[in-house]
Amino acid sequence: MKIANSVALVTGSNRGLGRHFARQLLERGAAKVYATARDAGSIDLPGVEALPLDITDADSVAAAASAAHDVTLLVNNAGIITGANLVTGDPAAIRLELDTHFYGTLAVIRAFAPVLAANGGGAILNVLSSMSWVSYDRATAYSAAKAAQWSLTNGVRVELAGQGTLVTGLLLGPTDTDMTAGMDVPKNDPADVVRTALDGVEADLVEVLADEGVARLKAALSADPRALYPQVV
Ligand SMILES: NC(=O)c1ccc[n+]([C@@H]2O[C@H](COP(=O)([O-])OP(=O)(O)OC[C@H]3O[C@@H](n4cnc5c(N)ncnc54)[C@H](OP(=O)(O)O)[C@@H]3O)[C@@H](O)[C@H]2O)c1
Repeated sequence: MKIANSVALVTGSNRGLGRHFARQLLERGAAKVYATARDAGSIDLPGVEALPLDITDADSVAAAASAAHDVTLLVNNAGIITGANLVTGDPAAIRLELDTHFYGTLAVIRAFAPVLAANGGGAILNVLSSMSWVSYDRATAYSAAKAAQWSLTNGVRVELAGQGTLVTGLLLGPTDTDMTAGMDVPKNDPADVVRTALDGVEADLVEVLADEGVARLKAALSADPRALYPQVV
């Protein structure tokens, strides 16, 4: 997958990682970048094609897929964090996590899979999380949704292999965007994460680990889960 001369579409690209994706795709020579957001008016990057897209709204997804029929690289970046826990949290918030990360990402992939097939296969990059692999108190609903999105990534990779579509999962720890504004922890620079992710797509990787923390986490998954969950006795 070469980014130069590709036609890319990025969800949630008015801010955060999505805005970095749209900018770096342009810098790497993409022929066109559809920068999408729930409010297309909030997209301020020069040189992009701004499109409205709410990934949880079926009509909005269908309209975007019909407008952007030349896409060869789809970046599923849009996401939220409600802070809801699974046992005690607001069920509406838990549902919103899954509606966004799982059903929303899936709806966009289902709409764009035929577009990618018609344009030679192309690639899909799904922005997952270290929390696809580990849960933290006060965000267990987010982890469940990101884990579902990780499994979705593996599933659609299998299903779309026949049409030649590369499906890459990006796993990353805390990164300096609005999503982590209230967190006092070391954070990745979002520009570095996006550079690593796009390098991975160009290298045909199916999994990109954006930082050392997530690489250590992956290695730890084969050990006793109690090592990851010291609060569990
Ligand atoms: N930052 C981190 O530490 C971190 C770590 C691991 C994974 N991630 C993942 O990285 C991705 C980007 O997050 P970020 O850190 O850049 O967060 P962010 O700065 O809060 O940006 C989130 C983006 O997603 C958009 N969005 C939310 N719901 C949407 C919907 N239904 N339809 C379309 N767009 C929607 C937001 O649009 P509005 O402006 O309309 O709200 C915004 O553009 C997410 O998938 C997140 O789970 C982030």
